[in-house]
Amino acid sequence: MKRLISIALIALMTTIPVLANDGMWLPILLQYLNEKEMQEMGMKITAEDIYSINHASMKDAVMLFGGGCTCEVVSNKGLLLTNYHCGYGSIQRHSAIDHDYLTDGFWAKDITEELPCPGLTTNLMVEMRDVTERINNAVNDKMTQAEREKAIEAESQKIIKEATAGTHYQGSVESYYKGNQFFLIIYEEFKDVRLVGAPPSNIGKFGGDTDNWMWPRHTGDFSIFRIYVDKDNKPAEYSPDNKPYQPKYYFNISLEGVNEGDFTMVFGYPARTNEYEHSGYVYNTVEVENPIVINIRDKKLAVMKAYSEQSPQIRIQYANKIASLANGWKKMIGQSLGIQNVDGIQMKKDYEKAFQQWADNSHKEYSTIVPSLEKYYNDIRPYRKTQRYISEAGIGTEIISFSGNYTKLITASKTDKPDNEKISKIVETLRNQAKTFYKDYNKDIDREICPQMLEIFYSNVDMKFMPSFFTTIRDKYKGDFEAYADYIFKNSLLSDSTKLYAFLDNYSAKKYKTLEKDPCYVIFTEMIDTYNGIRPQISEYQNNIDSVMHYYMKAQMEFEEDRRFYPDANFTLRVSYGKVEGFKPMDAVRYDYFTTLDGIIEKEDPNIYDYVVEDKLKELWRNKDYGRYADKDGTMHTCFLASNHTTGGNSGSPVINAKGELIGLNFDRNWQGTMSDIIYDPNVCRNIIVDIRYVLFIIDKFAGASHLVKEMKIANSQLYN
Ligand code: ARG
Ligand code: GLU
Repeated sequence: MKRLISIALIALMTTIPVLANDGMWLPILLQYLNEKEMQEMGMKITAEDIYSINHASMKDAVMLFGGGCTCEVVSNKGLLLTNYHCGYGSIQRHSAIDHDYLTDGFWAKDITEELPCPGLTTNLMVEMRDVTERINNAVNDKMTQAEREKAIEAESQKIIKEATAGTHYQGSVESYYKGNQFFLIIYEEFKDVRLVGAPPSNIGKFGGDTDNWMWPRHTGDFSIFRIYVDKDNKPAEYSPDNKPYQPKYYFNISLEGVNEGDFTMVFGYPARTNEYEHSGYVYNTVEVENPIVINIRDKKLAVMKAYSEQSPQIRIQYANKIASLANGWKKMIGQSLGIQNVDGIQMKKDYEKAFQQWADNSHKEYSTIVPSLEKYYNDIRPYRKTQRYISEAGIGTEIISFSGNYTKLITASKTDKPDNEKISKIVETLRNQAKTFYKDYNKDIDREICPQMLEIFYSNVDMKFMPSFFTTIRDKYKGDFEAYADYIFKNSLLSDSTKLYAFLDNYSAKKYKTLEKDPCYVIFTEMIDTYNGIRPQISEYQNNIDSVMHYYMKAQMEFEEDRRFYPDANFTLRVSYGKVEGFKPMDAVRYDYFTTLDGIIEKEDPNIYDYVVEDKLKELWRNKDYGRYADKDGTMHTCFLASNHTTGGNSGSPVINAKGELIGLNFDRNWQGTMSDIIYDPNVCRNIIVDIRYVLFIIDKFAGASHLVKEMKIANSQLYN
């Protein structure tokens, strides 16, 4: 049975309020669209406290972290909290065998020990302004989608220039509701962000990929950074003279804990959702593209994991690769399952049927939308499939994709008058890239994966897209992919770092031919040529889709005139709100809304890397030495669940209680709940949060970094001594 009432039905029952907690709302519009409902759900503060144009408000403490996550300011000296997995790259970069911060954790004892992280930035949204009218004046209905996009881009650049001239701000114009509304967003970018603290990875990544995207969860997924600025409190490149940033606003922290049903809100940077799509999109995603990627990654992961289990060195080398491959892989499995469970494609089709009837009856101008989308999603399908096979399998062998870096060198060398200075610069960059690459490279793994990838490509991609090196495999190697892989690994310069370094050391422009003929490079370029061959079709069909989706969005808003629509996520600041609540994952099973340190001890397994528990943590648990961080039930709560609509990019987002205090950091969703990027089902979609009390407990009791907790502001701290 369908667990969700079909949206079409909801549309017919407009007098009944929709009880779903879905939505990623614009902070600037909360006052008009959401404040009342939020307060009815228990919120004690106002929309103005969250986003104010004239006063310091919560939005001044929420930033984009490292271009992909969210972080929040928690002290008047620019102290930041984000997830461990968001800070992971920076922590890893500062780690070496003799100071392995991944294994041991890192805690700066004072600000002199805080570690600069070149390249790491945070962005604060200063302001957002509706610029729809200006953009609309720059376009007209006669334009093709490509012309329209060009005109929008040109007008956006003008708007940004006007708005940021004479300031140190950056700007961008973003489209909402599929190009039916536009906002100018002004950012202040901070460029000196330093690492302050991180737990050992067996806390920060506890449960690893096994627990990833799952509940019950026990991950202490946090790390600590600090923003530094110049003497005027303005962003500046790293300098030893920089000072801790004084924010306009920072979060108070609540040690009160949460109860089921409590109001919660997440404030952050969700990246992408597609909630208003046609069933063709849903089909292509969950039935066609996800299975392709899942199947290919299954193969890669099996090889990588088998080798990792045999050697601790390989385990370290491949930890990050496995984590990122597995993260997307597992998400796709969950998403496809989730959509199948609620019969999501049929739900969309039912909706389209109701929409079509409405259009035919009273809005003929919209009558062609659904059939057009149906056609365009059919058109684009084989091309998207091929694109997936190219990116995941075609160039899915590590040294094949790595060989793509050499195009620049070949191009620079292949001219009448090669510029030797430029060439030696490129060679230097390549040498550095190679160092990073081979540090975490295992040839045996790659050799085993290579023929599987080529074979998958060959057996699944339409012959008309087949690169010509497959003819060699078929004719010369009699279809023996293993033998062909032997040939690649024996003859490619890239399969042997010593050979490659020697080649680079003695490089001169005329040697480019060796690179051009390298088997890896040949495969890479033929794959890219194949991609370039299908690119025009992909953009044509995608443009068709985008231009119809623009009207479909508008039409859906008229079709369901009483529904409150939120724009799809687009990596801009949003507010989601909901309640603390568990869920029912399957028949006869009900999940609690929180986990405890007791669960970490239950999961402990000294033989499995992801489930090792530090002695110090066990000792604290044995003595129930939780101090003021214990829940009123006497246990140490680790994570909890809520029904806030979140997606990738919301990692590290502050989770806030009814009083506006910080109660945790968002870091994940439950498995089937990842369908919420396409359809939000209030029965199964939950976000996973690390309890702020566990974070502070680890900092204070486990790591003894109590100076950091002292720097933060605990709400009603007199109650906890
Ligand atoms: N699933 C979370 C998010 O997408 C956490 C990922 C990091 N953890 C991991 N075990 N790979 O991105
Ligand atoms: N872990 C995700 C991130 O890195 C957040 C989880 C989600 O997709 O909801 O942003």
